[in-house]
Amino acid sequence: MPLVLRPFGPADEGPALAARAEFEGTGFDFLPFDFDPRTPWSEWIVLMERYRQGVDLPENRTRAAFLAADVDGQLVGRASIRFELNDFLVFRGGHIGYGVISAFRQKGYGTAILRQSVVIARNEGVSDVLVTCDDSNVGSVKVIERCGGVLEKIAFDEEGVAFRRYWI
Ligand SMILES: CC(C)(COP(=O)(O)OP(=O)(O)OC[C@H]1O[C@@H](n2cnc3c(N)ncnc32)[C@H](O)[C@@H]1OP(=O)(O)O)[C@@H](O)C(=O)NCCC(=O)NCCS
Repeated sequence: MPLVLRPFGPADEGPALAARAEFEGTGFDFLPFDFDPRTPWSEWIVLMERYRQGVDLPENRTRAAFLAADVDGQLVGRASIRFELNDFLVFRGGHIGYGVISAFRQKGYGTAILRQSVVIARNEGVSDVLVTCDDSNVGSVKVIERCGGVLEKIAFDEEGVAFRRYWI
């Protein structure tokens, strides 16, 4: 079954919140950094659509798509595709962030998510795509290099964590 990237919908609430709980404490958020569980899911979906269009962006956000990775109706992961970069993103975060729910890893979905996200970013005018990952993240290094990532350098963030900066 092919993987598709699509907007989050009403039916994703349960699986997405379960994934959020699964990722807790891993250093990677399944849902966006500013997701607030007190906001009704239906409102959050509308907010994501506004942010994709660049409407009513808060100061700490740039125009970006937050998409569900779907295989045969099942949520397997997610992609965050930033069409513009702020100070944080240009150094550490990059244009694209992705995650695969652990039960679905090592099936090629991470690679499929990044590959399709690059196409979406290009369609929104991003020609050179910056993708970063922790130097220790063996799976992500493989995913990025398989999608054509060219290593710019290994840098250190403000917490001293070594991370790789790639351009596609
Ligand atoms: C990194 C991540 C997205 C990889 O997703 P995935 O669906 O397992 O990726 P793929 O199946 O496309 O794997 C691509 C390659 O990496 C390898 N790989 C994936 N995870 C690996 C791991 N933990 N250790 C070693 N190799 C790994 C796969 O085996 C595959 O190589 P192969 O075909 O030669 O066997 C997933 O582990 C994840 O969501 N991690 C937590 C969040 C995260 O780190 N996101 C990236 C932030 S930059």
